[in-house]
Amino acid sequence: MHRLLTNPLRTCGGVLFCMTTIHSATWGQQFTPNYDEAAVAAYKLPDPLVNQTGLSVTDPADWQQRRGEILGLFQEHVYGVAPDPVPVHATVVSTNNDAVDGKAIRREIDLTLENEGKSLTLSLLLYTPAGATQPVPCFLGLNFHGNHTLETDPSIRLPNTWVRSQPGGITEDHRATDAGRGTRSKSWPVDLIVDQGYALATVYYGDIDPDFDDGFENGIHGLFQHWAKSIELNQRWGSIAGWAYGLSRVLDYLQTDPLVDGQRVAVVGHSRLGKTALWAGATDPRFKLVISNNSGSGGAALSRRVFGETVGRINTSFPHWFNQQFKRYNKQEGDLPVDQHQLIALIAPRAVYVASATEDRWADPRGEFLACVHADPVYRLLGTNGLGGAVPPNELPPPDRPIAQGTIGYHLRTGPHALTQFDWLQYLRFAQDRL
Ligand code: GCU
Repeated sequence: MHRLLTNPLRTCGGVLFCMTTIHSATWGQQFTPNYDEAAVAAYKLPDPLVNQTGLSVTDPADWQQRRGEILGLFQEHVYGVAPDPVPVHATVVSTNNDAVDGKAIRREIDLTLENEGKSLTLSLLLYTPAGATQPVPCFLGLNFHGNHTLETDPSIRLPNTWVRSQPGGITEDHRATDAGRGTRSKSWPVDLIVDQGYALATVYYGDIDPDFDDGFENGIHGLFQHWAKSIELNQRWGSIAGWAYGLSRVLDYLQTDPLVDGQRVAVVGHSRLGKTALWAGATDPRFKLVISNNSGSGGAALSRRVFGETVGRINTSFPHWFNQQFKRYNKQEGDLPVDQHQLIALIAPRAVYVASATEDRWADPRGEFLACVHADPVYRLLGTNGLGGAVPPNELPPPDRPIAQGTIGYHLRTGPHALTQFDWLQYLRFAQDRL
């Protein structure tokens, strides 16, 4: 059966999001999201501090064991199992010591991974503050449309891999064109970031895994096809796990870069790449700060609220993002052995920031906030102050009033689904004594 599922007002990576054509025999009718708070049915969340044998975790020393259980459940039921790290070979391709009006050193660095006789090269774009006298902390995030979309400078290379079609001549036949140069500069305020003494590292996400369902032959999955056969079919890694694996390999490189303090790297992502940032932060404890911008379903939003985008809908529109097992929970969210507050809990006691936007009901702002609230007890058990205050707030804060006193930060920005300057200003402030 051929169906057209639409969410026409949503933007994807800052651009009006394409309508998604899907082939579905199981999703029999047009999907209508619930946006009515009164229609959210009562639900019971799995307790991050009760282990699978029913014992309460009351001692921080017992958290590692419980953490291992939760991580395993997310691998098995949601994102899939990723392989062990492979070495990263770095080649500096270009250096500009006078980038961003003289404020930054900009390098393009090829990171090549090899396995099973195949290789994959990720093109890292790395900005470091020009006047830095010592290695600096760094924000690392994948970008949606190519490194060349951060700046108009014609010397930045276009991606040579598949890109998602965009209007306005920015792409042709799934290839990036010069017309895309600088078109995402608002989402990546490089000058602001380097002015405050941070590095910015970014890679086009399609370098790691092109974002379409090809049966996992291309991108990073292609390097591990034999290995994948050793993993139970339902638990093999999806694209989000692939992108997160790529982020960890970039971090491997950043830990060797002389201009970056590799112990102080924040991972940041918007939307599907926000889901990816959370999973990267959960699986790789080397990320010191984790930032989820409008990540929604399969990211920071609680699945059991069934508000906005649901498990069934995301699995139907994007069957390659999660593992096969996750599809068993289409319309059966209550059967999931985990929910997304536990994804945030996996990051504890490291700092995490979740941001929502008022017009982004598809991503369920309240569900994203509540995930933070329900992760808070784990943060407090581990000796941090969670969302801050003596007890965590349990009411969604008013728009544009960040909660940023604790180890978990949250804001609800006025406006649409996007990564904006307002969001970056909050992340930079939050990072000040946490990164
Ligand atoms: C779609 C999808 C979301 C996702 C978003 C994006 O809207 O339904 O889950 O976050 O695309 O990544 O832009």
